[in-house]
Amino acid sequence: MNLQHKILQYKTLFFLPFCLLLSQTTFAANPAHGKDLHDANCQSCHTSLMGGNPDLIYTRPDRRVTSINGLRNQVTRCKTTVGVAWPEDQVEDVVEYLNTNFYKL
Ligand code: HEC
Repeated sequence: MNLQHKILQYKTLFFLPFCLLLSQTTFAANPAHGKDLHDANCQSCHTSLMGGNPDLIYTRPDRRVTSINGLRNQVTRCKTTVGVAWPEDQVEDVVEYLNTNFYKL
């Protein structure tokens, strides 16, 4: 093994733990990421349900969701319907996005 290869190996060894550390310290929900997830997976069905305006399902006067836990439950239910395997933190990103933009609970 030549020297350059060894140096590269050490760099990788030292860099990897930092990446893991960084990925584990981002606890706060990320609504921008939630919007991406939501728009890619959830919007089209709501669009056809609401006659072209997907946001209406969250803003109509007789909307179903009235609490943050209700919102979490509904996102989890719809997630299962769609069949996406979002871990807990991605569910929270979507909940945060919907709450900041529409529900304001
Ligand atoms: C296959 C169609 C479909 C898809 C895809 C879908 N939904 Fe829904 N969603 C519905 C229906 C139907 C309702 C209930 C409408 C009603 O009760 O009047 C609903 C309602 C909701 C509500 C509650 C709205 C209210 O009344 O307050 C939320 C929140 C929601 N969906 C989130 C999501 C999320 C997040 C996703 C993506 C993971 C998603 N939905 C994907 C069909 C869908």
